[in-house]
Amino acid sequence: MAVVGESAAGGQPDRSALNAADRLRAGEPPFGVYVHWPFCAQKCPYCDFNSHVRFGGLDGRTGWDEARFLSAYLRELQHFRQLTGPRRAGSVFFGGGTPSLMQGSTVAAILDEIARLWELDQDAEITLEANPGSVEAGRFRDYRAAGVNRVSLGVQSLVAADLRALGRIHTVDEAKAALKIATGTFERTSFDLIYARSGQDLAAWRSELAEALAFGPSHLSLYQLTIEPGTMFEKLHAAGQLVVPDEDTATDMFEATQEMTDAAGLPAYEVSNHARPGEESRHNLIYWRYGEYAGVGPGAHGRIITDGGRLATVIERHPETWAGLVEAGGHGITELEPISREVAADEMLLMGLRLREGLDLHRLAEVGGVRAGGETLARLVGEGVLESVDDGRLRAVGPGRFLINELVRQISASFVKAGNVAESIT
Ligand SMILES: C[S@@+](CC[C@H](N)C(=O)[O-])C[C@H]1O[C@@H](n2cnc3c(N)ncnc32)[C@H](O)[C@@H]1O
Ligand code: SF4
Repeated sequence: MAVVGESAAGGQPDRSALNAADRLRAGEPPFGVYVHWPFCAQKCPYCDFNSHVRFGGLDGRTGWDEARFLSAYLRELQHFRQLTGPRRAGSVFFGGGTPSLMQGSTVAAILDEIARLWELDQDAEITLEANPGSVEAGRFRDYRAAGVNRVSLGVQSLVAADLRALGRIHTVDEAKAALKIATGTFERTSFDLIYARSGQDLAAWRSELAEALAFGPSHLSLYQLTIEPGTMFEKLHAAGQLVVPDEDTATDMFEATQEMTDAAGLPAYEVSNHARPGEESRHNLIYWRYGEYAGVGPGAHGRIITDGGRLATVIERHPETWAGLVEAGGHGITELEPISREVAADEMLLMGLRLREGLDLHRLAEVGGVRAGGETLARLVGEGVLESVDDGRLRAVGPGRFLINELVRQISASFVKAGNVAESIT
């Protein structure tokens, strides 16, 4: 049976049968919904995510009015449904902040509304970020009952003293217990570690990573510690009170990470993300493959496609200010900007080069209307920082994996208008 937009031969879609937004979406990963929960039990000294600590407050224990926030999420989701029109969602991601501070009923109500507003795939990936310190089996079961099928645990370190140095409020034992409960509750469990920490050497990281791999995870996020502007760590670092491994040691740690995760069957599919084949985060792949997603909640960003083209959305960061905006006007969007094809090309390049599969040049031509200059590509390939693969993809390799911003600058400067898509990938 032929459906609208599909060629009779069942191959490439017949784009002439599609409206403007559907034409833009052809070849994209499935649409996703990101929900930002902005509260944390404590602010970690290295973190610059939009996270806020609340004491006391209307419902006493948690320090925020959960019913008020739930209503605001539901209204903002409805607003996004008006912007996107009908879509089929393949993933939902509750990020934070600490979404594991949410009540199970809040998560359930948000998921029900998402399923009511958009068509939610039967096998949609529904992820929730959880902190081991705010974990209890009862709440995990509630999340599971609400529809969450993947959890991403912020373990950060398996060394007690280092957890304290990171300002974490959970212990190593709590992290291990949370991992066990999560693995027994959800179809898929991932966890995060931060390396290149103060006082950590290569041997220490190798042994910690070996311990992590011995848990048999199917997905791991392994982040090199970044000293973020505006954080407590930045102040300590600037004052010489926080010393992190030098660049060579950090590079050695990165290489050891690749070698050990490859050997364990969890190769990197993105700079910091490792998975058994097929276990990649489908939601995060939307960002890296430059797909379409609605982002709701304080500080969330989104990229949506309308008949008017691609739009970038940014939401008010402050939680209560956001809730007030939603109550007054149905949404907390503070920026709603059309994305030009030039900007889309740069964004797609920046995201795509993070992926092991690389950047799809065919889509770059479709979305951004550009192709990369042959001379620049040949030079970067010659320098061993870029690989141009037969399937029409560009991939950062060798030292290029640490130089993605520089690669983006040089490749972007070489962009020329694509005559047609076939030309752009030759
Ligand atoms: C949005 S955070 C929060 C998840 C959760 N609240 C937690 O802390 O476990 C997602 C991940 O980013 C990583 N992260 C945050 N700040 C970082 C930094 N400055 N350097 C490296 N990784 C960082 C941590 O591994 C963290 O688990
Ligand atoms: S718990 Fe997570 S989101 Fe909250 S401050 Fe710590 S790292 Fe940031």
